[in-house]
Amino acid sequence: MRILPSLSFFSLALPLLVAALDESQMQAHLAAASGLLGTWEESSDALAGWMSNQPDSTTFPTLSIPGTHDSLAWNVTGIAAAFTKTQDLPLFKQLNGGVRFIDLRVGENNGMIQLYHGAALLDTTAQLADIFWGLYRWLDAHATETVMVSVKVDNGNSTASLQQTIYDLVTGQDVAQYWVQSTALPTLGEARHKAILLRRFAFDQLQNITPIGIDASSGWADNNAQFQIQYGANGETLYIEDFYNVGGNDLESAVASKYLALSANLDIATSAQHPDGLFISFVSGYSGISVTPSQLAQGNNTSPGMNSRALSYLAGKQGSRFGVVLFDFFGSDSRLAPATLGQSVDLSATPSGAASPSTTSIGTSHSNGAHLTTASSLLFPIVLLAVSSLGISL
Ligand SMILES: *[C@@H]1O[C@H](CO)[C@@H](O)[C@H](O)[C@H]1NC(C)=O
Ligand SMILES: *[C@@H]1O[C@H](CO)[C@@H](O)[C@H](O)[C@H]1NC(C)=O
Ligand SMILES: *[C@@H]1O[C@H](CO)[C@@H](O)[C@H](O)[C@H]1NC(C)=O
Repeated sequence: MRILPSLSFFSLALPLLVAALDESQMQAHLAAASGLLGTWEESSDALAGWMSNQPDSTTFPTLSIPGTHDSLAWNVTGIAAAFTKTQDLPLFKQLNGGVRFIDLRVGENNGMIQLYHGAALLDTTAQLADIFWGLYRWLDAHATETVMVSVKVDNGNSTASLQQTIYDLVTGQDVAQYWVQSTALPTLGEARHKAILLRRFAFDQLQNITPIGIDASSGWADNNAQFQIQYGANGETLYIEDFYNVGGNDLESAVASKYLALSANLDIATSAQHPDGLFISFVSGYSGISVTPSQLAQGNNTSPGMNSRALSYLAGKQGSRFGVVLFDFFGSDSRLAPATLGQSVDLSATPSGAASPSTTSIGTSHSNGAHLTTASSLLFPIVLLAVSSLGISL
């Protein structure tokens, strides 16, 4: 309402100011990455436009923002899928469902920047550029929204060519309009219809460039329950919980351990402390080879997972400032985004979104218990090898 009149004014003037993206290029990008983006579809879901209710003057540290961890690892099959798969929805559906922080893992492959989880290539044709163009299509259709885009190099090194390619992707003449061209967080009004880059890699191999993006390239403590990173010229701070290999030999102890870390960071986010700090809390994780990401997130038939525990926390502090809250298996429970956004949810309802917890996890299938137990003891060393060679980490 505040924003719509001015937007419709600008959309008339837009063709004069900035060139629209070339439609045939757009179609090529959407096709190349359809296995990760999903099929393009318009959405009238209120969650697809939740930022339209926020004033332009809103600053990001004051917001609660649903996000996904390892956002693109949703269509994963094969031997290591139990540990590589972290999501159950393609990217367009996540965005339509309210997600505004996405977590991309990249690596160089045959001269392309492609999408990974650890060393596992997520899609043979999709390149980072295709994912970005998918984002531009979505932002064009949801011009009141902004998406924070974390990029981390998961496979191989952050080489000069990788840095240059990504730099060009976010500053190139035709697409720079879709990226906040700053190293500080803007206001929401300044960020609408744009993405905000959060860099978990440096532009240190490039000369004579003006860096953009929130610089989280140094100080990201591995597997750590509470740490801070300063970014920007004025020492703005990220308050991060990224404890992912959470310990515990069974689901219940793994969830207990992870919940301590998550709730400790959220307790500070929801307090009056650090009003200008951006909080980032991962609900996701796993425990060695005992508890998969799917199990930790979704629980099993008798014991709740982290998504359910997080939901109770969020609902219990309805309307508080949570910061960015990143989920695995975001599609398994349609209450996760509303609860993060301070909307009322029915905690007594059965999760809806996915039919049942994933059965891809090894050794814990309910229907084929005996069968899989034998199989899993055989597979055990292979999976261990696969997981360690994937170097899965956050
Ligand atoms: C999932 O990946 C497979 C293999 O790459 C692909 O054939 C299939 O189309 C993908 N599924 C969807 C829904 O994109
Ligand atoms: C990454 O860089 C390190 C140190 O420079 C080097 O030892 C390693 O071989 C490189 N890895 C790859 C995959 O290129
Ligand atoms: C579910 O997890 C609980 C807690 O760790 C465990 O006691 C129980 O055996 C698990 N159930 C199944 C079916 O795996």
